[in-house]
Amino acid sequence: MAESEPARRAAELRELIAYHNRRYYELDEPEITDAEFDELVAELAAIELEHPELVTETSPTQRVGGAPVSLFSEVRHRTPMMSLDKTTTYEELLAWGKRMERYISGQVTFNCELKFDGLAMSLLYEGGRLARAATRGNGEVGEDVTANVATIKAVPKELPPGAADIVEVRGEIYMTVSAFEELNRQQAESGGRTFINPRNAAAGSLRQKDPAVTAGRDLSFCAYQLGDVVGGPDFEFHHETIEWLAGLGFPVSPYAEHVGTLEEVDRYCKQWASNRHKVNFEIDGVVVKVDDLAQRRELGATSHAPRWAIAYKFPPEEKTTLLKDIMVSIGRTGKATPFAVLEPVVVGGARVGLATLHNEDQVRLKDVRPGDTVVVRRAGDVIPEVRGPVLSLRPPELVAWVFPDRCPICGSPLQRLEGEADTYCINVDCPGQQVQRISHFASRGAMDIEGLGERTVGLFCNEGILSDVADIYSLDFDRVRKLEGFADLSVANLAGAIEASKSRPLANLLVGLSVRHLGANTSQLLARSFGHLDRIMEAREEEIAAVEGIGPVIAASIKKFFSLPRNRQVVERLRSAGLNFEGPRQASLAQTLAGKSVVVTGVLQRWSREEAEAAIKARGGKAPGSVSQKTTALVVGADPGGAKLTKATQLGVPVLDEEGFQHLLETGELA
Ligand code: IVH
Repeated sequence: MAESEPARRAAELRELIAYHNRRYYELDEPEITDAEFDELVAELAAIELEHPELVTETSPTQRVGGAPVSLFSEVRHRTPMMSLDKTTTYEELLAWGKRMERYISGQVTFNCELKFDGLAMSLLYEGGRLARAATRGNGEVGEDVTANVATIKAVPKELPPGAADIVEVRGEIYMTVSAFEELNRQQAESGGRTFINPRNAAAGSLRQKDPAVTAGRDLSFCAYQLGDVVGGPDFEFHHETIEWLAGLGFPVSPYAEHVGTLEEVDRYCKQWASNRHKVNFEIDGVVVKVDDLAQRRELGATSHAPRWAIAYKFPPEEKTTLLKDIMVSIGRTGKATPFAVLEPVVVGGARVGLATLHNEDQVRLKDVRPGDTVVVRRAGDVIPEVRGPVLSLRPPELVAWVFPDRCPICGSPLQRLEGEADTYCINVDCPGQQVQRISHFASRGAMDIEGLGERTVGLFCNEGILSDVADIYSLDFDRVRKLEGFADLSVANLAGAIEASKSRPLANLLVGLSVRHLGANTSQLLARSFGHLDRIMEAREEEIAAVEGIGPVIAASIKKFFSLPRNRQVVERLRSAGLNFEGPRQASLAQTLAGKSVVVTGVLQRWSREEAEAAIKARGGKAPGSVSQKTTALVVGADPGGAKLTKATQLGVPVLDEEGFQHLLETGELA
């Protein structure tokens, strides 16, 4: 940086921070994510640390962010609602521990709590009644949202008699992930505005002029901090205050832990960083608090944050970036899938440049347009997702994107069938489909031909030496050898891999044929029950549909596939090439779940939802979509739907994790 550069950048950062604060607190329309905002503040703090002369009294690092707001009347907090210092590493946690040693001595114990990603709320009870609910605002002055908060079921309107004369309770208003998804579904259905994430949905639901609107939204509350208490009990420890609040009827977090060392704090933080989606609400970190209230008093606060608490922030999972274009890709069954071409961003630990937009309706629903700034999310293993546009940044000239009516590869008309969400290129000779079909046939889950990936297949198709999957077995290796990059050795390897693929089991061949709706699991079921490709081709539709785990849609699709002469020709050419058409002669599965009914909820690691349900049906069981008295067990994965779990608990239906599910499949017994 040049001499004047830090001063210039600091001023620029302050301006940016003030601007984004206004968008967040006053307009409720943030343009950047919380994590990006934190990055701006962190950059400014770093400059100020190196150049103390640049620190100003009004610098956002010196005061709590935000500005008073206008939609609701202002309220001054009895004690300011401070923000928290942040850390992202164990080293910083240790440094925090060291800093505290300057103020206190003796044993320190810590409360670790999940950091809810919602809205901070101050609830004031006078004479046992909810007298006022206020947002944080700028920390000193917030908004009076009492009428709206009073509609939230989880917020007690009255306290048990004799609790205290005055109590201030702090906590978070948030929306569960399932409530958020349900709200967006309803909003989309009624043509209303959808929300980018649960935090925005909670904010939008709370900041309503009409409390009836708030009442209709499924908002939750969790108390995590006791404020002023007049005429009530005295406490020595934070965990006692939380227990007291729970006793008064406030929802408190069941995930909080009281630990004795920073090493344990670190373990808690890391454990939740990798399990953050196991709960049905969004968290963006962990709040670590000193438990001993006397120690807290000694520690005091800086101008903007208490010294006795720190926020351990998880890496952000959302970023904003430019949507450069929306393009359409053609899959092996001809499915035309729109996808977003993004200015690459690192989000959730990976660089994201492309993201699927699924289908025409999804693009319309999200109303993303090339040229928009969009929020991109990548949570854990989940594939990157474009959540929606930042409308306030939309250039005025942007027009809505229209799904093309012709295939971008072969130019044939695209077709969307009545009642279906997907659009297809109906030209079976479309080169785009060919490449996808052939490389899928050669992929690991199908015939597993090493060296025949999408690029090579694309090249061979372009050169005219491949046009369908049967061509693989009569490849002209002399022509291949002449292509750039195909030395003798790689040709020999490819030839060997092709030869080896001829003996793959029937299920792999079925997967490789690209029959619509036929996946790995259903191919297994078919192979096991028919044992030979000829028997599948000859079977009547009802016979196929009678296989446990295969429904009428798949049966119809299989029948249609093998009724097309060109597909039959490909099969005959594969037969002549000497491919194995037989299944591994496996005995049919033990009907461990006969007469039983197993419901699955949430995301499982080892099975997709369809696979889990197929596995249940393949063993003679039923896999209905909801829990009833007749349910044998509820299998619960990550982010389960709240309703099923609640119902199961109410009815006393056993709840299983993945291990338990595996055991049930194998033995038919609950572990
Ligand atoms: S304690 C002074 N505990 O984090 C300490 N805050 O800057 C008071 N938050 O927006 C806050 N979960 O709403 C505390 N378990 C938790 C929290 C939590 C989320 C939020 C809070 C505020 C920010 C603190």
